[in-house]
Amino acid sequence: MGYSKIVGLGHHVPETVITNEYLASIMDTSNEWIVERTGIHERRFIDPSKDTVANMAAKATRMALERAGLTEKDIDLIVFATITPDYFFPGSGVLLQRELGLEGIPAIDIRNACSGFIYALSVADQFIKNGTYKTALVVGAEIQSTALDLTTRGRSTAVIFGDGAGVAILQPSDKPGVLSTHLHSDGKYAEELYVRDPGSSRPRSERQPEQILDTSTYKVYMNGNQVFKHAIVRFTEVIQEALDANDMTKDDINLLIPHQANLRISQYIQQKMGLSDEQVYNNIMRYGNTTAASIPIAMSEAWAEGKIKENDVICLAAFGSGFTWASALIRW
Ligand code: UT7
Repeated sequence: MGYSKIVGLGHHVPETVITNEYLASIMDTSNEWIVERTGIHERRFIDPSKDTVANMAAKATRMALERAGLTEKDIDLIVFATITPDYFFPGSGVLLQRELGLEGIPAIDIRNACSGFIYALSVADQFIKNGTYKTALVVGAEIQSTALDLTTRGRSTAVIFGDGAGVAILQPSDKPGVLSTHLHSDGKYAEELYVRDPGSSRPRSERQPEQILDTSTYKVYMNGNQVFKHAIVRFTEVIQEALDANDMTKDDINLLIPHQANLRISQYIQQKMGLSDEQVYNNIMRYGNTTAASIPIAMSEAWAEGKIKENDVICLAAFGSGFTWASALIRW
């Protein structure tokens, strides 16, 4: 069995920039609080009259295809990670397949939240390595803004999340490539970071739109402290696991691209693992936390900035709702 290799990266973020100052004008928060606790300066929110999860993913895909010198018709598999699909069902994978005009190809939906992109990458990697498909499109795309409570009641999550899409295109290769992926979950903590509804295991009366009085269960709930504590442990563990599996040390990492959850989390990992500033990529300052989209957006930007070069070792790592956590080690 050979390897899979990333041959193209692309991303798309909506036009509308939402600054901390704007949020401070509509709820009880401040630029200082947000920057100090999260590192975020601004994020993008969609315009519901023109953006969807699937069409942002399509725009990111076109960028990646152009960079790779490929066309839509080359894609024979879509693996789409999102927890904010355009419809409750079907998932956004088929909507992207329709948007790209790729009739008949499979579209797999992955819903592992912040770890979703690495989970999706691992699925595509297996299919490419075993020869089933030749050009896999791996997507992370999210619209968080429309589920946020933009009042003081929702401020602990409203200031964190943003919208956007990123993709990677994978093809077979004789040389490494994706070296390994490492996936984990612990459902004990499912309710520490979740959107409860529209859940199916509810009395019928609670699922009939005309009877729903309390809509708070449709919004993001996050026990921030608990998530933070687990995140810093699991991130470092799963990065070390990837290094051990490939007989490497932290010095072999050219660039760590952590899920952009909170700048303080990235800085903690950097310090704990003894990585230099050049070894860690962060863009949460500009986009906030875009869940499954954060790693591919960051990877696409890092590549465009010349921070990912031939033969480099790139480490991806994520932690989020589930809890789930994951890492991938890639030889570029
Ligand atoms: O990507 C998925 C994974 N998610 C994460 O990794 C998120 C992990 N958690 C975090 O990033 C942090 O826990 C937060 C950024 C969400 C919160 O930071 P924190 O330092 O843990 O703050 P806190 O929740 O302990 O809140 C401290 C204070 C509270 O006031 P009191 O009780 O001390 O009076 C909050 O009510 O800050 C208050 N607060 C705010 N104040 C101004 C909470 N949100 C805000 C806000 N603006 N937006």
